[in-house]
Amino acid sequence: MNATTKAPPLLALKGVSKRFGPLEALTGVDFEVDAGEVVALVGDNGAGKSTLVKAIAGVQLCDEGTFFMRGTEVTVSSPKDATALGITTVYQDLALCDNLDIVANLHLGHERFVESAARFSGYIDEIEMEKSSLKLLESLAVTTIKDVRAHVASLSGGQRQAVAIARSLLGEPSVVLLDEPTAALGVVQTKQVLNCIRTLRERGLGVVIISHNLADVFEVADRIVVLRLAARVATFDVRGVSHEDVVAAITGAEFGAAPNEPKERT
Ligand SMILES: Nc1ncnc2c1ncn2[C@@H]1O[C@H](COP(=O)(O)OP(=O)(O)OP(=O)(O)O)[C@@H](O)[C@H]1O
Ligand SMILES: [Mg+2]
Repeated sequence: MNATTKAPPLLALKGVSKRFGPLEALTGVDFEVDAGEVVALVGDNGAGKSTLVKAIAGVQLCDEGTFFMRGTEVTVSSPKDATALGITTVYQDLALCDNLDIVANLHLGHERFVESAARFSGYIDEIEMEKSSLKLLESLAVTTIKDVRAHVASLSGGQRQAVAIARSLLGEPSVVLLDEPTAALGVVQTKQVLNCIRTLRERGLGVVIISHNLADVFEVADRIVVLRLAARVATFDVRGVSHEDVVAAITGAEFGAAPNEPKERT
């Protein structure tokens, strides 16, 4: 497929700006993710990453900017709009209920009911929900959770993250946004979560991951978008870039005599 016939990105944002009083949190930022692609959004503290994700998720509206899904202009003015467009977000605090088991957490707000004699019985179909929970976790290649009746409070950080990712997939989204999914996780747990993310890509979803951990970014992302001081300053294909180049773009060191000038995608 050549450049002129390339399909439009799954999700594209053009010229997104957001101000908080005098502070510019985002200045004319373009962003895009393709189906079956993992894009890492990186940048120093306060660069604007979460603000961009919140704008995509419809939880905090931008002041300017146009959104497109598969080339068609769309409006995202509430979380409901984002959900309807197939955009889902996994936040760092995960919003899981510790006192409920995995099955209940996965189906919270999406409970299934027993049909009795083809009529709505009002009884929650625990067996069906248990089956679909197992299927969902299996489809994400989550093998360390042996008991879907375990309370979420008893899970490791990586397992909790896996449950949160599984939960976000119930509405069959096409774009998944993950804000710091591996923060505070150990090596093994991080690997599990990165595996989940790879599975999402294999399923053809567009994945956006915010991370401060460049090792994770290099392990899982296809493309790296760097924000600095509210602007998009660099875009890298992960296969052709070094950690040093990315760090330089994050800190601004490339605006000296750096040998590898990052190229902005047009
Ligand atoms: N609700 C808000 N009110 C005022 N200022 C805000 C608000 N949310 C974010 N900001 C400011 O906007 C800028 C961008 O914040 P944002 O949270 O997007 O950064 P970030 O890149 O996610 O940083 P971090 O890596 O620390 O999470 C920061 O200067 C922040 O203080
Ligand atoms: Mg943030």
